[in-house]
Amino acid sequence: MPRLTDRYASLGVSWIDTMPLRKGELLERGVDVIDLGAGDADLLPPRAAVERLKEAAEIPALGRYGFGMGYRPFREAAARFMEERFGERFDPITETIPLIGSKEGLSLLAMAYLSREDVAIIPEPGFVSYIGGARLSEGTPHFVPLRPEKDFLLDVTEIPSEVAERARLIYLNYPNNPTAATAPISYLEEVVAWCREHDVLLAYDNAYSELAFDGYEPPSIFHVEGAREIAMEFHTLSKTYNMTGWRLGWANGKAEFIEVLAKVKTFVDMGQFMPVQAAGAAAIETRHDFIPGNVEVFRTRRDAAVEAWREAGFLVDLPKATMYVWIRLPEGVDDIDFTLRLMDEAGVIVIPGQGLGPSCAGYFRIALTTGTDRIVEGAQRAAAVLAAMQAEAAAPAATP
Ligand SMILES: Cc1ncc(COP(=O)(O)O)c(C=O)c1O
Repeated sequence: MPRLTDRYASLGVSWIDTMPLRKGELLERGVDVIDLGAGDADLLPPRAAVERLKEAAEIPALGRYGFGMGYRPFREAAARFMEERFGERFDPITETIPLIGSKEGLSLLAMAYLSREDVAIIPEPGFVSYIGGARLSEGTPHFVPLRPEKDFLLDVTEIPSEVAERARLIYLNYPNNPTAATAPISYLEEVVAWCREHDVLLAYDNAYSELAFDGYEPPSIFHVEGAREIAMEFHTLSKTYNMTGWRLGWANGKAEFIEVLAKVKTFVDMGQFMPVQAAGAAAIETRHDFIPGNVEVFRTRRDAAVEAWREAGFLVDLPKATMYVWIRLPEGVDDIDFTLRLMDEAGVIVIPGQGLGPSCAGYFRIALTTGTDRIVEGAQRAAAVLAAMQAEAAAPAATP
C-alpha cells in the first residue's frame, strides 16, 4: 500500500460526512428517520435558476471550460449584490471570484498562505473546510474555543503571542454555524485591528448573511474600516437560495487576494459548469422576491423548534440567524451518548457538539431542514430518550 501523508492522517473524522452512511443504515432497517443533521434544506431553489440552467445547458459554448473567468454575468450579479445589500463596491473581474461552493475557496486559501511553521486560527467549533485547508496545507491549525460566556465570539486576546506571531490566516463565521451566534460591529472591529496588527489574512465566511430573523441584518466584514486591507469575504448560494448541491459561491476582496486564490484554482480546477453559474446569476437576481419568503419558512421552523425542544427538556436560546439551533443538554448527559441513542432508538439525526470540537461537549445542533411537524416530532422522540438516560443515571447501580 502506498504510504499516506501525515497531513492526510491528521484530518480525523467529520461527523457531518459520516451522517449519510448512518442514515442509510437506519433507512435500511426500515426506521422512520427524522434528519436534522446536515445544513441541507428540503426547500426548492428559485424557479428562475432552474429555468436558466435548462436554457444555458442548451448553449454549446457554455459547456466548454469556464476557466478562471467563468461566466461573466455571474461575477456581475455577485458584485451587484454586494453593492446593493452591503453598500460595498467590488470590481466583478478583479475583486470577485466565482467558487465551486464557498467551501472550495475557504480551504484552497490555506494552500497559498500557510507555509511550514505558519498557523491558521480556527474557531472551535469551526466549519470543516477551515480545518481541511489548514491541515492539508503545510500549516498548523490553532483552535480557539467559542464559549457561551463570550457569546460564542472568538476572543483574539486568548491567542498566545507566540501563536499570533506565527499566524497568517484566521477564519471567522458570523452568523455562526453551529452556535447561531451573531457578531456586533464593535467585535468585528477588534478582530480587524488584531489582524492588521499581526498581518493576518481574515477569511470572513458570511454563508448565512441572508438567513436572519426579526429584522436583524448581518453585516459584511467590509463595514469595518480598514477591513479591505486584510480581509476576504465568502458567500454561497447554498443557504440563501437552497442550492447546496449546485456548488456555487464566490469571494470578494482586494485584487491582490483574489489573484492569489485565482492562481491556486488554476492549478486545481477549471471553474464551475457555466450553466450553473448562469443559474446562480438568475438566482441572485430574484433576491428581492425570493429571500423574504424563504427566510419566513425558516423563521416558522425556528419558532416551532425552540418551543418544542424547550418543552422536551433542553436548554435552547432563540437564534437570530442561520438554519441551526444550538442546544444544551441537561448537566451530566454526554452529547455523543445522547446523539447515538437518539439515532439508534428514535431515528432522529442531530450533530453532537463533540463531533464539532472537544469544547462543545454538552451541546448538540439541529438543522431546520425539514418541516415543522417533523422538527416537533423529533423533539418529542428526543424527550423520551433524554428521560430514559436520566432515569438510568438516577437508578442505583446494580449490585454484582
Ligand atoms: C459556515 C459555513 N461555511 C460554508 C459552508 C459551505 O457552503 P458551500 O455549500 O458554498 O460550500 C457551510 C455549509 O454548511 C457553512 O456552514
